[in-house]
Amino acid sequence: MLIKEIESLRNVIKDWKKSGYSIGLVPTMGFLHEGHQSLIKKAVKENDKVVVSVFVNPTQFGPNEDFNSYPRDIEKDFKYCMDSGASVVFNPSSEEMYLKGNCTTISVSGLTDFLCGSKRPVHFGGVCLVVSKFLNIVTPDKAYFGEKDAQQLAVIKRMVKDLNIGTEIIGCPIVREKDGLAKSSRNTYLSKKERKSALILNKSLNLVKKELMNGTLDVKKLENLIISTINAEPLAKIDYVEIVDSNTLQPVKEIEDSILVAIAVFIGKTRLIDNFTFELNI
Ligand code: PAF
Repeated sequence: MLIKEIESLRNVIKDWKKSGYSIGLVPTMGFLHEGHQSLIKKAVKENDKVVVSVFVNPTQFGPNEDFNSYPRDIEKDFKYCMDSGASVVFNPSSEEMYLKGNCTTISVSGLTDFLCGSKRPVHFGGVCLVVSKFLNIVTPDKAYFGEKDAQQLAVIKRMVKDLNIGTEIIGCPIVREKDGLAKSSRNTYLSKKERKSALILNKSLNLVKKELMNGTLDVKKLENLIISTINAEPLAKIDYVEIVDSNTLQPVKEIEDSILVAIAVFIGKTRLIDNFTFELNI
């Protein structure tokens, strides 16, 4: 079922709740790929009913970002969701989601100081606003997010805890192409040449993973290894390379516990992100 109005979705949810169904939510911006599909399939396995939201959220894009050019194909997305076992695709308009004169903001401090938060100043405010709206409208038991957006996942988990929202937030592993590139709707922007260059993200992370496993714990050395590997790729330009504590998302000087190694890189005009977490077993 395709639903465009909040009121209609609320009525469906009310009926489901009356029947005692558990509800899973998969928030997306559409142009779905196997990464999204893995979230939908997990949600279908764990809940009686699943809502997939498809909404390119204007409030999470900065003025010079790709809101207008972000790929959209609701017909294809709808079929993909139904084939993957979803019950409802919620595809509201911007006007439906945002009342004129909206004056509420949500800010999760600390966790947004570094990584994408420092490079995209309005981004997480917009993500938190739209995700809290979806959680309020759907009131799901569980909501599913990809670990490729590791900072987004941490921020949403914190917001849900701080605002006493009764939804369990579930992170799902990164899904990659056969050659290692993390799946992303933005990969469609890449030319053939850029698509090849984009492999440098995963390659540089794998080099560092190997170093960590061999016992290298010098943060600067590890960061420099990523930087020099990426800088050797002519089409790539680093936005950030950071090693942070995976709970606080603050930069670490020494590797003591669990870390997140996260990077954002422009390949031509396309900004791609990737990451992995590493636990030090002492
Ligand atoms: O990860 C995304 O696709 C978006 O940031 C989300 C969570 C759907 C909010 O618009």
